[in-house]
Amino acid sequence: MKKITHAVIPVAGFGTRMLPLSKSVPKELLPLGNRPAIHYVVEEAVAAGIKHIVLVGHAQKSAIENYFDINAELDNQLRHKGKDELADSLNWLPEDVTVSMIRQGKALGLGHAVLAARPIIGKHDFAVLLPDVVLDPFTTDMSANNLAFMLDAFATDGYSQILVDKVADKDVHKYGIARLDEKLSDTNDTNDTNEEINTNASFKVAGFVEKPNLADAPSNLAVVGRYVFSNHIFDYLASTKASVGGEIQLTDAIDALIDAYGVQVTIMRGNSYDAGDMRSYMQAFIYFAEQQLANNE
Ligand code: G1P
Repeated sequence: MKKITHAVIPVAGFGTRMLPLSKSVPKELLPLGNRPAIHYVVEEAVAAGIKHIVLVGHAQKSAIENYFDINAELDNQLRHKGKDELADSLNWLPEDVTVSMIRQGKALGLGHAVLAARPIIGKHDFAVLLPDVVLDPFTTDMSANNLAFMLDAFATDGYSQILVDKVADKDVHKYGIARLDEKLSDTNDTNDTNEEINTNASFKVAGFVEKPNLADAPSNLAVVGRYVFSNHIFDYLASTKASVGGEIQLTDAIDALIDAYGVQVTIMRGNSYDAGDMRSYMQAFIYFAEQQLANNE
């Protein structure tokens, strides 16, 4: 199977959980330590071999596209002052990587946002990275990251891959939750969220429930926000109707993909941080800043 080189990052959310910080600054550009949150997400994609990144946003999000562009005036100014090293550090994106932006138009949900990237993605298979979730870049080897594992698994078996991680009971209502076959849910249905998982593994998944009550949750395995999709997902998204929260849910299109082609979940390795929720964002900021201070960054 052909190597995946395209990724979609939906950035159209208004970030209401991050107000007032996100009132005039896109939440994706809020800092985690010394870099904007989305910097780490794009870095993760690039480390996994992604070459074409499509941001799906709206008028108030163009600063994100600018962040990944070269600011020629600033570059000249810095080099003129002999600050070449600083100028070079701003141009860290490899030359063969492109970042483009397309607009979602109407805000009809995550599934709708992913579908909005279709004119650029075309017939390619592709990855999706949700920028609210930032995977810990300090403890996980970036050259062997979760996304890279998922891309390899897709290339080998042809199954779309969805990254999942165990969450505490109190948090299941915030996520898409995986329903596995019986054998696996016996071994995984536990509240132990501290268990360190050192290797990735992929398993067939029976379905997903979007933001269930605890009583209806089929497991504790939550969708973390990293997906690798065969191009067929676009056809299912195009016919998906609004459901939970009145939105066109990616989860519903995934269920249709499971029925037709089968899908696997990849168990996450390392830690993830929710940069889209004020409390966990503040904790993440402290963690990232402490790591960078310790590394003299
Ligand atoms: C989205 C997905 C959900 C997933 C979550 C991860 O929800 O719909 O399945 O678990 O991202 O952050 P959102 O947080 O955008 O409401």
